[in-house]
Amino acid sequence: MAHATGDLAATDIEAYLAQHERKGLLRFITCGSVDDGKSTLIGRLLYDSKLVFEDHLAALEADSRRVGTQGGELDFALLVDGLAAEREQGITIDVAYRFFSTERRKFIVADTPGHEQYTRNMVTGASTADLAVILIDARKGVLTQTRRHSYLVSLLGIRHVVLAVNKLDLVGFDQSVFDAIVADYTSFAEQIGLDGVVPIPLSALLGDNITARSPETPWYTGPSLVEHLETVVVDDERSEGPFRLPVQWVNRPDLDFRGFAGPVVGGRVRPGDRVRVVPSGHDTDVARIVTADGDLDEAVAGQSVTLVLADEIDISRGDVIAAADDPPAVADQFECHLVWMATEELLPGRPYLLKIGTRTATATVARPKYAVNVNTLEHTAARTLGLNEIGVCNISLDRPVPFDPYEVNRDTGGFILIDKLTNATVGAGMLHFALRRADNVHWQAVDVDRDARARLSGHRPALLWFTGLSGSGKSTVANLVERELHALGHRTYLLDGDNVRHGLNRDLGFTEADRVENIRRVAEVARLMVDASLIVLASFISPFRAERQMARELLGEGEFVEIFVDSGLEAAEARDRKGLYAKARRGELVNFTGIDSPYEPPEAPELHLDSSGTVPPEELAATVVQHLRSAGVIP
Ligand code: ADX
Repeated sequence: MAHATGDLAATDIEAYLAQHERKGLLRFITCGSVDDGKSTLIGRLLYDSKLVFEDHLAALEADSRRVGTQGGELDFALLVDGLAAEREQGITIDVAYRFFSTERRKFIVADTPGHEQYTRNMVTGASTADLAVILIDARKGVLTQTRRHSYLVSLLGIRHVVLAVNKLDLVGFDQSVFDAIVADYTSFAEQIGLDGVVPIPLSALLGDNITARSPETPWYTGPSLVEHLETVVVDDERSEGPFRLPVQWVNRPDLDFRGFAGPVVGGRVRPGDRVRVVPSGHDTDVARIVTADGDLDEAVAGQSVTLVLADEIDISRGDVIAAADDPPAVADQFECHLVWMATEELLPGRPYLLKIGTRTATATVARPKYAVNVNTLEHTAARTLGLNEIGVCNISLDRPVPFDPYEVNRDTGGFILIDKLTNATVGAGMLHFALRRADNVHWQAVDVDRDARARLSGHRPALLWFTGLSGSGKSTVANLVERELHALGHRTYLLDGDNVRHGLNRDLGFTEADRVENIRRVAEVARLMVDASLIVLASFISPFRAERQMARELLGEGEFVEIFVDSGLEAAEARDRKGLYAKARRGELVNFTGIDSPYEPPEAPELHLDSSGTVPPEELAATVVQHLRSAGVIP
């Protein structure tokens, strides 16, 4: 008989989990490809734990006859490969989470496709898994993809691995085949630091060694797959580590109660324990552990609780409450592994949002030290990372964050990168260690500061950022503005794209990555010049919003004036003084802005000038000078 929970699981995960609250939970991932029988295995687990609905079964029988690959037998793969399109293609895409339970435990299994192009799905599915089932086809043995999956499993810190040697029926349940595969795999697993591998001989299709030991494999004395999944101890590592609770929110219903709510992601905590709040570094004692069901004497990793502390300490979302005698480190530069998950490649130097636990910071990634070939595990030189590529990079943040090495704690050591404009997750990372070089480079105190310099100069320093297509008239207008400011007695400096590319940025071309770096350097130089109290004019195509935003954020309030010199493509191309548009049209110049490289127009520039030709440049320049007067940059 089928459990009614089968349907509930599909529609309401929370209710399903609540219903099975008393049982422990195991999250696991299955790695393998369609051919290894992965979907069959999951289908078999669901079927044998009786979670398949009767009408599902009826549909399955009909489908098995129609497209099944198993003759008249039930084709369990069809149960799992839910989508019709996938069924016909015979592949599984994206991550599907399945829920099932046995008498002893409930399970969430992340089913991810095994193909190399789906590395990011596997990373998503594996990031919360306690255990991985690595499937091998007994006829084929350890393959490249087995190595790839195992490497990812080890990279993602999954400590429990089942080596499921499947399709043993097709090799006559031959022990020597099984033993040879296990020996081969074990020696590879050692190289990548995977220990504790549990090999199990299986036939997912026929059900051998799935729920009970099979008479076909009398030579096998270990547990069946389900027995192992039901009994493997996984929670200990997390709760044995040092105590960590990232604060998700501050619960302050009235003046008498102040609690800090969040998940315990490491160790355990009891009232009276000494804790430290990071990054601020204040120590205090735990007064109470509050939950909806009353106070607790102890909370362990995996539980979500509210802590009441003995002292009034200023704590906000993103802070970590940790064991006082073993707190996380705090740093703003790191080495990490980065898995790239977006179709647009990583742009070293571009500001991304980094989320670690409940904390968010702006992050820039340096050019990778190397990329990892996930098939051979070789390290290769790389300038960037493309979709599904993995590399080791340094990363720097705009503020310090509390962290643990990923090896020590996956929650306080793992992060994701988000594109600031599209909000899409573009990467996932694992922190290794903090780079200490920043600790040894201090800000040198100086007596003559920027205010003192500004008082002498008779104006407020500012950065006038002219952006627009090549040939839009940026440099013409900027030049006229500088002449006028100079005539008025102001100290100025004009940084121009073409000129800077002859010196400071001689090494850069026009790929996206090089343009990002071009603007990053120019913005840093302009900041120094503004600090020196100049009115700086920067004239660069600067086609990307993200980098113009970065330049803005480097400067103080009111110091950055974005001026969109907007001629439209047609007028810019008609001018074509340098003949570059013609070349680009002929295909002799690639990555040309407006032709085969994008320009993202400003959304809210301080000034938007129409430079299509209807207004003379002198008048546009006068508009800029007038703006500077009304903004108080010049008197
Ligand atoms: S940016 O995109 O990185 O901001 P920048 O303003 O420094 O560009 O340089 C643009 C100038 O380089 C253009 O005015 C043009 O003279 C020249 N140039 C040469 N190749 C290209 C190209 N592929 N795209 C745009 N500009 C180019």
